[in-house]
Amino acid sequence: MAAMHERILILDFGSQYTQLIARRVREAGVYSEIHPCTIDPSEVEAMNPEGLILSGGPCSVYDAEAPQLDPTFLDLRRDDGTPVPVLGICYGLQAMAQLEGGTVEGAERREFGRARIDVLPTQANGEDDRPALFTDVPSGSTVWMSHSDHLTDLPDTYEAIATTANAPVAAVRSTRAPHYGVQFHPEVVHTDFGRQILENFAHEICGCSGDWTPASFVEEKTAAIRERVGDRHVVLGLSGGVDSSVAAALLHRALGDQLHCIFVNNGLLRKGEWEQVQDTFRGHFQMDLHAVDATDAFLDALDGVVDPEEKRVCVGNTFIDVFDEQTEAIAAELGHAPEYLAQGTLYPDVIESVSFKGPSATIKTHHNVGGLPEELNFELIEPFRELFKDEVREIGRLLDVPERIVGRHPFPGPGLAIRILGAVTPERLALLREADDIFIRELREKDLYDEVWQAFAVLLPVQSVGVMGDERTYENVCALRAVTSVDGMTADWAQLPHDFLGAVANRIVNEVRGINRAVYDITSKPPATIEWE
Ligand code: XMP
Repeated sequence: MAAMHERILILDFGSQYTQLIARRVREAGVYSEIHPCTIDPSEVEAMNPEGLILSGGPCSVYDAEAPQLDPTFLDLRRDDGTPVPVLGICYGLQAMAQLEGGTVEGAERREFGRARIDVLPTQANGEDDRPALFTDVPSGSTVWMSHSDHLTDLPDTYEAIATTANAPVAAVRSTRAPHYGVQFHPEVVHTDFGRQILENFAHEICGCSGDWTPASFVEEKTAAIRERVGDRHVVLGLSGGVDSSVAAALLHRALGDQLHCIFVNNGLLRKGEWEQVQDTFRGHFQMDLHAVDATDAFLDALDGVVDPEEKRVCVGNTFIDVFDEQTEAIAAELGHAPEYLAQGTLYPDVIESVSFKGPSATIKTHHNVGGLPEELNFELIEPFRELFKDEVREIGRLLDVPERIVGRHPFPGPGLAIRILGAVTPERLALLREADDIFIRELREKDLYDEVWQAFAVLLPVQSVGVMGDERTYENVCALRAVTSVDGMTADWAQLPHDFLGAVANRIVNEVRGINRAVYDITSKPPATIEWE
């Protein structure tokens, strides 16, 4: 389906920012996809891209194991015979400049952080004196540098179009072809006009009109799902999270009653969630929702389990059993087994497995709700395989999914089980639910909820001494955690106002019988993780 759209392809040389490049290009209204730098150029040409972006990477171009840029990429043609424009970023620039005869060397000083660029007039090709890449990008604006190599000798066909105090060549253009390169990172937010630069590349240099919008996605996906599924049936594991909720809304729009959602109460949900999800999907959307309360099965499986990974396995396995049973019940109603399973898999999960770096090391296994084994014998429908989370949120809004769900913080599949350190019991779940609910409500009330990426309470396996009235207490401690992040891979602890934290702690110890102390977690990821287990 995306084949109908203009597209800019990104070759990944291993940069931690590659996904951001794709997101920024899509924000410019152009569909973009990431491929490993080892992809065959003929495959790229067959996709008829409007442009190509070479990402940064951790290597030096002269390292023995440095990923190579196949020179063919610099001479690709579009279907209409015009050359494919190329933008090299950092390593990408160095790799293309080296192929064109330039010299890359280690800089005396590693350049890391903010710098100011000076945009230089360009003389070549009669282009007016401002390079197209920098249309509406003022000299003196900030760019983000992160490199230890730089270009010391430009190829004959290159001219510098920007400099910084430490980098005589901060950006180049080729006089031979529509090739540009930047030493800095336009994809990160610290580059003031980074979005503009990528938009200039997409629109002015590649000539894209910007035909990639959430509305066009919904229309095309709806039609494609209808065509693929015909009169068959689809099951979907609904968790109440953004991805599965929006997937349900999209599939329901396409298929109506041929969609059967399964929502499992694993007893590890937050306060009010069980009722809220049912209200939304059965009440508001009128979907065929199979809500099953399997609290006992989950709590039995978790009985006495304290190891975090073991908790994940228990929750994951029990979920599969419950889901299986429900699917059989649906099959009995229909008179035949549903043919498809829909999942809200996102693009970052897909690229993780194709990136040239390979999947990153497993620190925690994530058993997402809906993470079902293959032998369940369904054909998979994954409508968001090409999308980033922000795009799914946009689509959710278009499909009238309530803001409460669309804007929700991420919540882990194993739920509160991994936020109760030590054994999970109904009593401890009840304590945590209340504390968490106070924290989240206060965040919403003070308009801080959307300022943080994720926030929650954790129940610690320790008791501490307190005093209430004239009485000594010896009760539980809860930790409050709030982080800012882009994708959960790294995170900073959120600098919430002290008086706000004080008020939340006060409410928790006053209103939740059994908790007499609250602490705030001020570690970032790394070295900590976001969850405590
Ligand atoms: P960590 O704790 O690894 O969390 O820094 C990063 C993000 O992943 C979520 N998370 C999970 N999600 N199953 C999930 O579906 C899991 O087992 C799991 N563990 C962590 C976490 O909430 C955060 O958003």
